[in-house]
Amino acid sequence: APYSIGVDIGGTKVAAGVVDGAGRIVERVLAATPSHSPLAVEDTITAVVGDLRSRHLVETVGIGAAGWVDTNQSVVRFSPHLAWRQEPLKAKLEQRIDLPLIVDNDANAAAWAEYRFGAGAGASVMVCITLGTGIGGGLVLNGQLFRGSYGMAGEWGHMITVPGGHLCECGNRGCWEQYASGNALVRDAKALIASGSPVVQGLVESVGGPDSITGPAITEAAVAGEPLARELLADIGRSLGVGIANLAAALDPELVVVGGGVSAAGDLLLTPTREAFERTLTGRGFRPQARIELAHFRNDAGLVGAADLARHSLIEPPGTV
Ligand code: BGC
Ligand code: NA
Ligand code: ZN
Repeated sequence: APYSIGVDIGGTKVAAGVVDGAGRIVERVLAATPSHSPLAVEDTITAVVGDLRSRHLVETVGIGAAGWVDTNQSVVRFSPHLAWRQEPLKAKLEQRIDLPLIVDNDANAAAWAEYRFGAGAGASVMVCITLGTGIGGGLVLNGQLFRGSYGMAGEWGHMITVPGGHLCECGNRGCWEQYASGNALVRDAKALIASGSPVVQGLVESVGGPDSITGPAITEAAVAGEPLARELLADIGRSLGVGIANLAAALDPELVVVGGGVSAAGDLLLTPTREAFERTLTGRGFRPQARIELAHFRNDAGLVGAADLARHSLIEPPGTV
């Protein structure tokens, strides 16, 4: 059977892959996100799709984009981390790629992959949270992605959890993603470096110098046992757990799936997350609690889900998604 290509465009990298009908990745490629111009992002997407298609029989393309995508799944209205403003991404890509394609939010795509083939199979209310450059969100309600009235549901990375807190790329202060994301890790580590604090020396050495402080580098250092990196991950985990308790107050999910690059830290992240969640959930002790699980697809969920959403909405009969 022909394949579908999924392209996940995050704040820092583009992950693309050829995906089969069971959610298996047949081949994948990675590229850096050229954040300065929408045209450069288009060029990158066109190039990775062209490259993958040259080796596989591909029928559809799904794009998961880190931004607010409209209900027609075609215009990226805004993106805090990329240059999109009312960007007609679908129309522009259709001029360059002669395959049916759809555009959806990157975290919606990740949620869909986890629901279809991963940690969320069969969950009645599933919340997905992706921790990368920012926080992405997706909600699957009774087997359907919930998109809201205008396509923009699930932007809980921009719930204000610390009024007056750190400035966010969206223009507000104190958004949740400023406290529980790869960017939060980097900001905290850099603040310690700038202050000349000795506690950050070990981390700087283990990543190979102050210029190599990135979210993935800190996560790797934590996994390798570096103590400050572990503390920074635990801070992120606590903010994550409190935010999940807020979401549970609103949505009462059965399952919360945590994915994205930072989830590579595994229990170093999830143990403090679960502790903070259990400590803050309203009505705790008197209600069933949502399970909090790592994404089965980890950082590949976005590309797998984008590919599957394209397959579903473009090939399978309407009404199946
Ligand atoms: C954006 C979301 C996106 C998420 C993850 C957030 O800052 O607002 O649209 O899904 O980052 O990339
Ligand atoms: Na979303
Ligand atoms: Zn924000």
